[in-house]
Amino acid sequence: MHILLLGSGGREHALAWKIAASPLVTKLWCAPGNAGIAREAECVALDIADHPTVINFCRNHAIELVVVGPETPLAAGIVDDLAAAGIKAFGPSRQAARLEGSKGFTKALCSEFGIPTGAYGRFNNAADALAHVRRQGAPIVVKADGLAAGKGVVVAMTLAEAEAAVAIMFDGAFGKAGSEVVIEEYLAGREISFFALSDGETAIPLASAQDHKRVFDHDQGPNTGGMGAYSPTPLVTAEIHSQIMQRIILPTVAGMKARGTPFRGVLYAGVMLTTDGPKLFEYNVRFGDPECQVLMLRMMSDIVPAMLAACDGQLKNFDIRWFDESALTVVMAAKGYPGDYKKGSRIEGLDEASKIEGVEIFHGGTIFSDSHVLANGGRVLNICASAKTISEAQRRAYAAVDRIRWSDGFCRRDIGWQAIERNKAPK
Ligand code: AMP
Ligand code: GLY
Repeated sequence: MHILLLGSGGREHALAWKIAASPLVTKLWCAPGNAGIAREAECVALDIADHPTVINFCRNHAIELVVVGPETPLAAGIVDDLAAAGIKAFGPSRQAARLEGSKGFTKALCSEFGIPTGAYGRFNNAADALAHVRRQGAPIVVKADGLAAGKGVVVAMTLAEAEAAVAIMFDGAFGKAGSEVVIEEYLAGREISFFALSDGETAIPLASAQDHKRVFDHDQGPNTGGMGAYSPTPLVTAEIHSQIMQRIILPTVAGMKARGTPFRGVLYAGVMLTTDGPKLFEYNVRFGDPECQVLMLRMMSDIVPAMLAACDGQLKNFDIRWFDESALTVVMAAKGYPGDYKKGSRIEGLDEASKIEGVEIFHGGTIFSDSHVLANGGRVLNICASAKTISEAQRRAYAAVDRIRWSDGFCRRDIGWQAIERNKAPK
């Protein structure tokens, strides 16, 4: 098979690594890719926002499957445009991608189909939104409706913070994404990520994971796209796993089908484990980054038949097998991230680092220049490791980090702390 993967981050490097391992694949391309992806695929400098160019490339290279990594092309309808051109693509349609593209859309679906989530209101003007937050009081959560690169959510612990958040959103801080605002009940509990694969009719679970969103150790500093992750998380017991499938994932798939906009692809649920059971606080319509990196390390089955089954409505009796091991990833980012950072610094020691048992390194933002790997983004490397326990995976990943020489980079030193503390706690 000829496959084209779209994207350029650590998530796409992990996907490229897993797809390239499939015996079904004769050739893999990635647009635009990065220095690490170039080891697995031929990277092509296509502008993936330009759908006719992507379609032409597919026709010229007899592409039989396109795998879409990030949310932006999904929200822009790339899967619809490829389908209209007769090209199979893994990922949701533009309508189904609204599960991530509009918080209000997802809240309304939850209400209609009885999916547990926080109480909410939708507002298109500041006066009504302010009146609502004043009625409800803090803590309360203010969200820009549309895609805002993970920055459109303010968890306000005081009324003043909530009022300020409403004001900046209606002031245009997030452009069109903030022209509607969702105000949501604050959910107290532990937060986990849960991934499932859907073919529009049904869904099968992938795995749970724990992301680390804050930039510094002990969950301090601003939110980022994710500074590390591990899978599975011990918080998701067999019972909670089953509740998430039965109460959240399957009703979502059924609801989307009933509305005539079936969801095909990866459903990534952000779930709060509350004293009232698991509640959904957001959907993403793609793999998480860096959660994908640890999921790919744990997946034993070939991913390509699973993606094809999702595209073709054939997941009903499909089974994905997983290694029994835990996997953990540490993100190395450019100093300054998630604010301003420099590009172009040299990274050394990657080969020595990847020799450590169980270690796999996925590149996020890198380029290759004069036979050197250079930093070319905010989140630059994912140092991943598998092992029998999360503690051992953590030890291996940090041993690899310590072999990397990159003066402009930094990472958190505590990825995995929740699971490791929990395992140490007296029973
Ligand atoms: P989101 O962009 O929806 O992932 O939200 C960013 C972060 O805000 C999440 O990772 C949660 O930690 C937090 N969050 C979102 N919704 C709620 C909620 N209703 N209650 C408490 N925290 C929330
Ligand atoms: N790691 C969070 C995300 O991919 O949205």
